[in-house]
Amino acid sequence: MKNILITGGAGFIGSHVVRLFVNKYPDYHIVNLDKLTYAGNLANLKDIEDRPNYTFVKADICDFDKIQEVFAQYHIDGVIHLAAESHVDRSIKDPFTFARTNVLGTLSLLQAAKQYWNGEWEDKRFYHISTDEVYGALELTHPQGIEPPFTTTASSSEHHLAYGKDFFYEDTKYNPHSPYSASKASSDHFVRAFHDTYGMPTIVTNCSNNYGPYQFPEKLIPLFINNIRHGKPLPVYGKGENVRDWLYVVDHARAIDLIFHKGKIAETYNIGGFNEWKNIDLIKVLIKTVDRLLGNPEGTSDHLITYVTDRAGHDLRYAIDSTKLKNELGWEPSLQFEEGIEKTVRWYLDNQAWMDNITSGEYEKYYEEMYKGR
Ligand code: NAD
Ligand code: DAU
Repeated sequence: MKNILITGGAGFIGSHVVRLFVNKYPDYHIVNLDKLTYAGNLANLKDIEDRPNYTFVKADICDFDKIQEVFAQYHIDGVIHLAAESHVDRSIKDPFTFARTNVLGTLSLLQAAKQYWNGEWEDKRFYHISTDEVYGALELTHPQGIEPPFTTTASSSEHHLAYGKDFFYEDTKYNPHSPYSASKASSDHFVRAFHDTYGMPTIVTNCSNNYGPYQFPEKLIPLFINNIRHGKPLPVYGKGENVRDWLYVVDHARAIDLIFHKGKIAETYNIGGFNEWKNIDLIKVLIKTVDRLLGNPEGTSDHLITYVTDRAGHDLRYAIDSTKLKNELGWEPSLQFEEGIEKTVRWYLDNQAWMDNITSGEYEKYYEEMYKGR
């Protein structure tokens, strides 16, 4: 495969995937197709934008004619599909946009690929990036957390706790609760249907919560780092008891690279770090790290924690079992969580201009409204 279409490459995870592919595969032509919604930002790709093996196309994945044109113009052999509306809170306010982009947009890409490849599936690949949220929510049967017996070495640490006995496996039944996860579940079904009906060589992966540089600051980690820096309240939904399983974004990009090249057609792989955190514990680590790096005495920003109305339908716990990926393809996270969080906080503090560009103007108004609503 030589001509790879990456959708959503100007977003958070997509920009890391584009960077990895452009740097690692000089023989590939990487076409990054992105609509540049509020979440898309070409500043995320400044370091690689002039590379000869990179092209940016501004387009909407729902624009079927344009997508057909892109397949033909760039002779696309492989697709890594990340473009999506990705924020749960926005999906609660505006579900239609999520159905349009995540469901119809995915269908438009599938149909364009099917037409362009015209049954010649040899060396073709349609890789769809999905989320663990499609599996629903797990129970919190061990509220204090326990050391899971299958701790992976790369991510093990004293904070690495399992909060329940169940995990999401590749064959866990889909049970999405938010409009976001319902739209992602629907798109996953379409991808698998194109394999089962037409024989398209597809792969789906379901990943846990990512963190790291270039994440849009409406998501927990960058939002809270920025608020701590500016002495603004930290809106903790509900009691802060919800559990998420965090993975450093570069490790997700590494997994995508491996699966794109070595994954088995029609398979599903779960990607996660066996790294569960209760929101409130994670928030305390963020406060401590930001205060330390800013030279503030410990405890300076503790008072910013503000409990607010819970998210509607808030999933209690996500926890991915990524044993299949480890056993079949040898992938493991490369970073300990403490290391990843330290790198991440440093990056946001060192890149205040990137943050200010995003948080000024339109987004500031949106955030104030969102916060007032709680
Ligand atoms: P993001 O919101 O940061 O980026 C999404 C990108 O898609 C943006 O660049 C945006 O401009 C683009 N986009 C949106 N609508 C588009 C359209 N109609 N046409 C073309 N481009 C469009 O999202 P992210 O966090 O980087 O997530 C990327 C993918 O990974 C998504 O599919 C998401 O469901 C999935 N995922 C995310 C996480 C996570 O923790 N962030 C975890 C698992 C899976
Ligand atoms: O699990 C993978 C998913 O992770 C991805 O599919 C989504 O695209 C991504 O946005 C993320 O979803 P979450 O809803 O888990 O992420 P978010 O950063 O919005 O919230 C993380 C947790 O923190 C969640 O329990 C809600 C809580 N939260 C979030 C925000 C923004 C707060 O308590 N306060 C906040 O202000």
